[in-house]
Amino acid sequence: MDVAKLNEVAKKLVAPGKGILAADESVATATKKLEKAGVPSTEESRRDYRQMLLTTPGLGEYISGVILFDETIRQKTAGGRSFVDVLTAAGILPGIKVDQGTKEMEGSPEEKVTKGLEGLPERLAEYAKMGAKFAKWRAVITIGEFAGRRIPTDANIRKNAKDLAAYAKMAQEAGLVPIVEPEVLMDGANTMAVCAEVSTRVLTALFKELKNAGVAIEGIVLKTNMAVPGKLSGEKATPAQVAEATLAVFNAVLPKELLGQAFLSGGQNDVEATANLDAMNSKPQPWKLTFSYGRALQDAPLKAWVGKPENIPAAQSALLKRAKMNSLATLGKYQRE
Ligand code: 13P
Repeated sequence: MDVAKLNEVAKKLVAPGKGILAADESVATATKKLEKAGVPSTEESRRDYRQMLLTTPGLGEYISGVILFDETIRQKTAGGRSFVDVLTAAGILPGIKVDQGTKEMEGSPEEKVTKGLEGLPERLAEYAKMGAKFAKWRAVITIGEFAGRRIPTDANIRKNAKDLAAYAKMAQEAGLVPIVEPEVLMDGANTMAVCAEVSTRVLTALFKELKNAGVAIEGIVLKTNMAVPGKLSGEKATPAQVAEATLAVFNAVLPKELLGQAFLSGGQNDVEATANLDAMNSKPQPWKLTFSYGRALQDAPLKAWVGKPENIPAAQSALLKRAKMNSLATLGKYQRE
């Protein structure tokens, strides 16, 4: 395992003023997204959509890496260039989602565990050969109540932490920087304080398992949620309050060797996700705090594009704007739009 090389790639991913574009929706998720925008989902329309995003002129100024899905990493632009080549030429690192979605946890079906460890070393080796420099695995933690007990259970947190650690070790052995993503969902009726408490349990378990598995912490990027009130809670929190609650969790549990954390947007609207990130960066922090947004970067360009070639320039400029706003937020220099 070449820790120095992994560390170098991790540093590039969280470089000042840069963040990650998550464009790794599975076929099912991409289909939902496209159909909601009135675009029929076919292999070709998904390719056209990703081509629009990834060929945005100037994207490399704000975006350090793009997470691709298996279908996309194998696709080419209409002009015949592989997406890996397009990104590499733009100075952007290509990455790949390697989990295979979630399934119900045995004995606690309201909770999820992530699929994809079987055969993972072979898949990682293939992606590395195709030019991927980093990987991503997402674990999902649900807050709520089931059969009279509160979830997440410790068993669910431990299982997801162990699987994330096993994945991270395999990714590092294959020469890929693992993005380690435990996502505490923000769609429940819980308060921000409960989100912070659950996030603390999840991250504590995660770093224990990463260390047990021999993962080089300086060669990973964490991707986790902000501490926010659940969507159904009715509670509102300002960016300063979200930053305070989130940073309290991080200060309690994140190790110093960790280079950076790239937030998921998790259903926040795009301006909110930018403002919250900016608030986190209003003071220097021990880790680089950046973005790895899917919806908060893609919603605006998708709405502008709606599958029409004549809308590509407007859609690309919508993406570039969100990328630039989030770049400013990584530096604590964002001005509310
Ligand atoms: P969102 O920013 O839409 O939450 O997506 C990020 C991601 O990659 C989730 O796995």
